[in-house]
Amino acid sequence: MLAIRVHEFGGPDVMKVEEVATPTPGEDELLLRVMAAGVGPWDISLRAGGYTGSLPYTPGGEFAGLVEGGTGEFASFDDGTPVYGYPGLTGCYAQYVTCPVEQLAPIPQGLSITDAAAVPIDALTAEQGLTHELNVAAGDRVLITAGAGGLGHFAVRIARALGAFVVATASPQHHEFVHKLGAIDVIDHTRPDWPRRVRDVISGGPAKVLACAGPTLDGAARAARDGAIIATPVHADYPDAQRVTWRQYDGRPRGSRLIRMAPWFNDSTLSVEVSGRYYWKDAASAQRKVSEGHTRGKVVLVVDDDLSAELKV
Ligand SMILES: NC(=O)c1ccc[n+]([C@@H]2O[C@H](COP(=O)([O-])OP(=O)(O)OC[C@H]3O[C@@H](n4cnc5c(N)ncnc54)[C@H](OP(=O)(O)O)[C@@H]3O)[C@@H](O)[C@H]2O)c1
Repeated sequence: MLAIRVHEFGGPDVMKVEEVATPTPGEDELLLRVMAAGVGPWDISLRAGGYTGSLPYTPGGEFAGLVEGGTGEFASFDDGTPVYGYPGLTGCYAQYVTCPVEQLAPIPQGLSITDAAAVPIDALTAEQGLTHELNVAAGDRVLITAGAGGLGHFAVRIARALGAFVVATASPQHHEFVHKLGAIDVIDHTRPDWPRRVRDVISGGPAKVLACAGPTLDGAARAARDGAIIATPVHADYPDAQRVTWRQYDGRPRGSRLIRMAPWFNDSTLSVEVSGRYYWKDAASAQRKVSEGHTRGKVVLVVDDDLSAELKV
């Protein structure tokens, strides 16, 4: 099969397409024919030097594809079943990938196979932050920073689905988009006084915050009320930790939680915004776009040749 390989750390052009052996699924794993793969900032930081395994490796932490052959029989998946998942932080920029059955799910009818590839990491991480870390419930007033990005745009929709009132932050070019996602107020996080503006909107500041981007952590702390809980999957220093409670967490690759979100995708309570589609052999262009840091929703790589011809990527 063909796969994108990183032999040395560096810029986007270190990624090369190569012929490699098709991976063999282990026990409780499936072999998947990859149709599309999601691209996120984690792909960029690993390729730039953050990957701790041995080189070379294949980037890509999320995929949508088809169960290959009889490999899914033990889990009642037929050959060709459309599934999507989060097998780990690597391996998805390739024609085939293996994935533990626990870390994938059937693609909901409400998602196209290309869009599905953009869902697993950020949707799981958003849902986990709002439910497990913040225990968001109907009537809560929640601040979601960076509400237009991959993580944030899922978080705004999921928080609304949980019945919360959402105040979000974003750059001005994304304000209309974030309003349409369901935020009652969208604050311009390019303005230095944005934390005060959040406090104007939520009197005294929010008690629950999902901080979805590194540059918003300081402001999230300043906006939050005393004793607030701020959940974030961003690895960084956490300011003002005497006054607010930080909950750093990592999104867990749970197929069962994707299954739980399927009805939301089917009735359009939840959707994914894919603002960029790239042919997978041009992963460098896709990563350059994501590394600008202002993606609306997500960027995907289309791996399957027929699908890329149909989508004209
Ligand atoms: N640990 C985990 O399990 C896990 C899982 C998923 C994500 N993450 C992390 O979560 C973060 C967000 O991921 P993502 O997929 O949402 O990335 P993304 O799609 O690239 O979004 C980045 C966001 O950052 C905002 N931003 C960029 N520069 C900013 C600035 N100067 N001030 C304020 N906001 C700024 C952007 O908002 P505007 O365009 O509106 O300015 C955008 O919404 C990344 O650090 C990622 O690694 C961690």
